[in-house]
Amino acid sequence: MLLTNFPIATSLILTLLSSVSCKPVHETNAQRMARGLPPSAPKFGRTLPGAKRTYTSAIPRIPYSGRLEVRQEDGSVAGYVRNSNSSGAISKFDHSSGLNFLGPEQELHVSFTAPFSGNGPFDIVASNPLFPAPFYVGASGTADINSIAGDSRNTISFSNVEQTPKNTIPIASATDGLNTFIESAIWSINPKTKELKAQYINPDKSKPETIIGYDIRANRLFFVGNITAYNVNNDTPASTVQLYLVAL
Ligand SMILES: *[C@@H]1O[C@H](CO)[C@@H](O)[C@H](O)[C@H]1NC(C)=O
Ligand SMILES: *[C@@H]1O[C@H](CO)[C@@H](O)[C@H](O)[C@H]1NC(C)=O
Repeated sequence: MLLTNFPIATSLILTLLSSVSCKPVHETNAQRMARGLPPSAPKFGRTLPGAKRTYTSAIPRIPYSGRLEVRQEDGSVAGYVRNSNSSGAISKFDHSSGLNFLGPEQELHVSFTAPFSGNGPFDIVASNPLFPAPFYVGASGTADINSIAGDSRNTISFSNVEQTPKNTIPIASATDGLNTFIESAIWSINPKTKELKAQYINPDKSKPETIIGYDIRANRLFFVGNITAYNVNNDTPASTVQLYLVAL
């Protein structure tokens, strides 16, 4: 349909374009070939008001939704990220930090879109929050500690945060001011296994390995650069866990 009508559409657009502006919007193919370039691909769908973008290549994103399953290193399921309105003892930005042991209605549901490759960074948003905003599942540090590293025991909270721009260093939370530094766009997904991985960006723009740790005694999830260092002389040691998106 579109293809057979294309010459008509093309001449229609050319007419429209020339009546709208006397400056040519596109170089003609003759001009391109004179410069040794191949003819340009038809792009007129872009300029036709209301037309479907048949000839443009908007890269489709894949919608995902589900709950967040936390697995131990041996692959066994530790639990699901909880959805709670009881503020954690640690900070007010800690509603999604632990695992839920209370049943499906206390599980956090999330949704997001990712490119076909699964590459990040992208945001994950809570879709059934029992807690007040913010609703993004991300990383939350403090003014004093907002970096992690392979040779450091520093941790950053796994927590509900405001949306932050992609590929940026931690920024001050709009509601918690200069006490809390956050990042939301830290995620990527393996499209086959649905494993979610985090990539935190430090204030110096370095990208440390971002391990997800789980302290079973405190029921706390967090990000850390070196779990061995974290566990040295620690009364409540934690283990490395993996995060997977699974169906509701
Ligand atoms: C969650 O708790 C806050 C106060 O801690 C309250 O303002 C809010 O209404 C509660 N939300 C729900 C959904 O219960
Ligand atoms: C991680 O911490 C352990 C224990 O402190 C240390 O032996 C190891 O060298 C650290 N790893 C890196 C990459 O620094």
